[in-house]
Amino acid sequence: MSTLSNKRIIVGISGGIAAYKSAEIVRRLQDAGADVRVVMTPSAEQFIRPLTLQALSSHPVHADLLDPEAEAGMGHIELARWADLILIAPATADFIASMVHGRGNSLLNAIILATPAIVAVAPAMNQGMWAHPATLENMALLEQRGVRIFGPDSGVQACGDIGPGRMQQPQEIVDQVASCFAGQSLSGKKLVLTAGPTREAIDPVRYISNHSSGKMGYALAQAAVEAGAQVTLISGPVNLIAPERCNIVSVISAADMLEATMQACSDADILIAAAAVADYRPVTVAAQKIKKHDDAINLELEKNPDIVSAAASEYSNLFVVGFAAETQDIESYARDKLQRKNLDAIVANDVSRSDVGFNSDDNEAAWITATSSKVFGKRSKTQLARDIISAIADQIDD
Ligand code: CTP
Repeated sequence: MSTLSNKRIIVGISGGIAAYKSAEIVRRLQDAGADVRVVMTPSAEQFIRPLTLQALSSHPVHADLLDPEAEAGMGHIELARWADLILIAPATADFIASMVHGRGNSLLNAIILATPAIVAVAPAMNQGMWAHPATLENMALLEQRGVRIFGPDSGVQACGDIGPGRMQQPQEIVDQVASCFAGQSLSGKKLVLTAGPTREAIDPVRYISNHSSGKMGYALAQAAVEAGAQVTLISGPVNLIAPERCNIVSVISAADMLEATMQACSDADILIAAAAVADYRPVTVAAQKIKKHDDAINLELEKNPDIVSAAASEYSNLFVVGFAAETQDIESYARDKLQRKNLDAIVANDVSRSDVGFNSDDNEAAWITATSSKVFGKRSKTQLARDIISAIADQIDD
């Protein structure tokens, strides 16, 4: 399992002899599944060529704060927002001092000032510089501000001295980066989600649909991304912005949704079917707009395929979660659906209530498996989504 899959990491390189190890760090972060960008200070370029890092990361190396062309592409604020974690390796004594003072004089400094991401430093310097009270106080200040500090190691140094100040080995650094994301309960898992309504065409301008807003499905997609999953969101027509880092597949009808779901589930670990699929569709779709008549007209409907059942019976290793919208006898109807549709778990909610459910920002639900059930009392759809995702993670860990 890739421990850093779906994670965006900036490797910041400042100018010290340990910069030659940064290439190995970039490589190992990628091996762990991370998407890596490299930012160098001007003095780092004296120790390692940007071209090496560009080739390894498959992206241009960012170095210049005042380069209009680079800023027009991925500028410093965008990079600061893009990252989940910024690792400065090596972090020289001077670079650490510049961080303590909040300087914004290089691209890397400016990104560190602007970022909401986790910031980590792997110090690398001569043992005398490391032991200097200025450096020790600087390190203490960074630690107080929540900066993660990896190392340094002790041993023979490039200058021949022996003592603390050597940068940690690349694999040790990468392991500590991974531990910053502990609690990523679905890390490395592929999760498919259906969300929103479907529309079943009657003629070129009319369709049958329902009032599903898609909010619950989108909240689940966001929670699954936060938990480290690789998410494919198969969405019917909704007025929502897809969470970042989801692979979004837009569909209209149940038939489209079935096709996209079966394809996405072929190599997935988990399916959550949160879509409100239209149960029926017109047997024929009129090629031209149907004109008004004086009399009533009949619309013949046929049943749509059951998407969640089809995926559950085709892919036996898939952990499948369905939803049940009920107005009475919630648990017993939901248990019946659980069995009938061959699901591993079902989230049941009471759609007779006006304060939760369809089109509301809140929801309340029961989580039901063959052997257990628990109730998630009224809470925001965002929180309920996180609770459902942790219930799934607990279940697949068992
Ligand atoms: N579902 C599906 N494909 C369908 C119909 C439903 O994948 N054609 C999924 C939904 O995404 C949801 C669950 O099945 O996970 C809901 O099942 P459904 O039988 O439609 O239940 P209700 O919507 O609760 O409706 P009813 O009680 O009328 O059966």
